[in-house]
Amino acid sequence: MAIMANSFEEVISLIKDRLDIVDVVSQYVVLKKSGANYWGLCPFHNDKKPSMSVSPSKGIYKCFSCGAGGDALSFLVKIQNREYKDVILELAEKYGIELPQKFHSSKENKNQKKEMISACEKAAKFYKLQLKTAEDANKAMSYLKGRDITDDIIDKFTLGWAPNKYDTLYKELKKEFKDEILEKAGLILKSNSGGWIDRFRNRIIIPIQNENGEFVAFGARAVDEGQNPKYLNSSDSLIYNKSKILFGLNSAQDAIKAEDGVIIMEGYFDVISAQAHGVGNAVASCGTALTPEHVKLLSRYTKSRRIYLSFDTDTAGINATKKGSAVIKETLSALGNIKQFDESHISSNTDNKYACEIRVVSQPEGKDPDEFIRTTGADAFKTYVKNAPLLIDFLLNNILKDKNSAKTPQEKAELVNQIIEVLKDVNNKIIQSEYVKMVSTVIDVDENAMLKELANHREFGEYAQVGNKKLVTNSSQFEIKAQKNLLSVFLANDSSLSFKQLNELLPENIIQDETLIIVKNTIDKLVCTINNVKELTKSLYTEFIEDDNLTQILTDIVELSEAFNGLEPAEFERAVKENIVRLKRCYQEKETEEIRRKYKQVNDDDIEALRIQMQLRDKIKLRTGDK
Ligand code: CTP
Ligand code: MN
Repeated sequence: MAIMANSFEEVISLIKDRLDIVDVVSQYVVLKKSGANYWGLCPFHNDKKPSMSVSPSKGIYKCFSCGAGGDALSFLVKIQNREYKDVILELAEKYGIELPQKFHSSKENKNQKKEMISACEKAAKFYKLQLKTAEDANKAMSYLKGRDITDDIIDKFTLGWAPNKYDTLYKELKKEFKDEILEKAGLILKSNSGGWIDRFRNRIIIPIQNENGEFVAFGARAVDEGQNPKYLNSSDSLIYNKSKILFGLNSAQDAIKAEDGVIIMEGYFDVISAQAHGVGNAVASCGTALTPEHVKLLSRYTKSRRIYLSFDTDTAGINATKKGSAVIKETLSALGNIKQFDESHISSNTDNKYACEIRVVSQPEGKDPDEFIRTTGADAFKTYVKNAPLLIDFLLNNILKDKNSAKTPQEKAELVNQIIEVLKDVNNKIIQSEYVKMVSTVIDVDENAMLKELANHREFGEYAQVGNKKLVTNSSQFEIKAQKNLLSVFLANDSSLSFKQLNELLPENIIQDETLIIVKNTIDKLVCTINNVKELTKSLYTEFIEDDNLTQILTDIVELSEAFNGLEPAEFERAVKENIVRLKRCYQEKETEEIRRKYKQVNDDDIEALRIQMQLRDKIKLRTGDK
């Protein structure tokens, strides 16, 4: 019998009641019981020995190696790498949970999506036909011929022509589709006079297909001198989300798997030329910068997550390379290290011990991949791919290009600064020192001086130096931990205090970490209507379902809450207070450091110096009085 839910939250709640963390994880991971928990190889990184624990009592999983963690539902969303809403709708159907009225529209939605996709497909085919039949088809064909686009390529990518008339497409498609569908699919627009007109006119049409090959959107290139914009793209719609779709992926899938690598390019025509000439594993984003969703999408297809960036070789292209690689690193860093050194130059030997491998294809100056492949050939391009340097080598080379113009000590120091910006991200110290050795020879600076600069740089970023003691690294980790501890009291199972009483224990502003403030605010919001720990935990996971990072942090907090279980009320309170006192001391220390730092920067005879000096004295007095 179907169960009726009144809200989407209730659907999630009902599903969660039916999900058993051990059952769920067992579908993907072999689990072994040990004590109260189960252990298995973590599926989210390349795990060698079982680092993932599953706690049936807390209903959570947590990997002690890569940090992945969450409840049963977030496990499913993460491992299936799907939209959480889709996962929920599927589970609701499985468990016979009736969706609230407004989600019935999701059925309607489904139909609408189907219609929109069908309209886009018809449009793509109609536009293609126009290449042969339209009055102005000659102009279109000669444009394509000028770009070496053959009939085969036109067929493969369903390229087309939107004639320079107001309603060529509309007249055709309105026979079959409602205006509403055509408008939602982004094919037609309301004209000033109130009628419908085609959105794309006088442009070469490049249909965009999703992973499954369904037509969902269009890019349209201008052909006339001065026709702006150069590309007109479909806006996002029910069936098209730019930040989640990559142009060419549907036809590149097999090649990406076979090569175990993917080449990301900038433009539609780069991908078209590449794929047409046998570089099958090329894709591009559609008029938008690379997003984490794009990266996740690609990492489903390449086991080793080897990503080549093949952008234009101008300054804009290099900046896009920097930005794109930052997104890739950020997105995949939870999986482990990024490959930063070529042990052997044979890149086909894939041992998958890295989170990802970023390489940069830099064909000669001034040519984009499309032009290069057409003029110099796909084989030459493939050679560039084969010899593509790792990101870090590319960046270093790019800096070292200017090495001969750096002659004075100041110029050299500036060059070293840029190099350090790159090298500071290398976490393996041996590898880092190898790079320093190499680079210092090339630009002829003292290796040790460079190592020192690098070390200084790091200290400045991560620690504040106090005399010779570096204490802040640990203390900042401690700070986070103590704040998590304080939040975990809300999730401790058997505290005798109410949420309100717990809140009163915590001083104002004791949580200062930006992310933990989000957690705290969410707790505050939820406890207005929730009065038990189990519900609170469940609802927090639901609140954070779209955010992997928050889900992991929440899992840390759930873990930490264990320590507060089984404490006498007095002990419990003492533990909370202890955390508060230590945390406050940390904050004060930091504040004093900040003042001390400022003091160092001003001149002795400055009135500002005097003021800061007094501040500092007060702070130190306050702290010693505190003990
Ligand atoms: N783009 C866009 N809108 C623009 C310009 C560019 O959406 N007004 C996107 C397109 O996806 C384009 C990509 O950015 O393919 C790269 O832009 P650009 O390098 O300017 O174009 P090319 O791919 O070199 O285009 P073409 O070869 O047709 O000149
Ligand atoms: Mn280009």
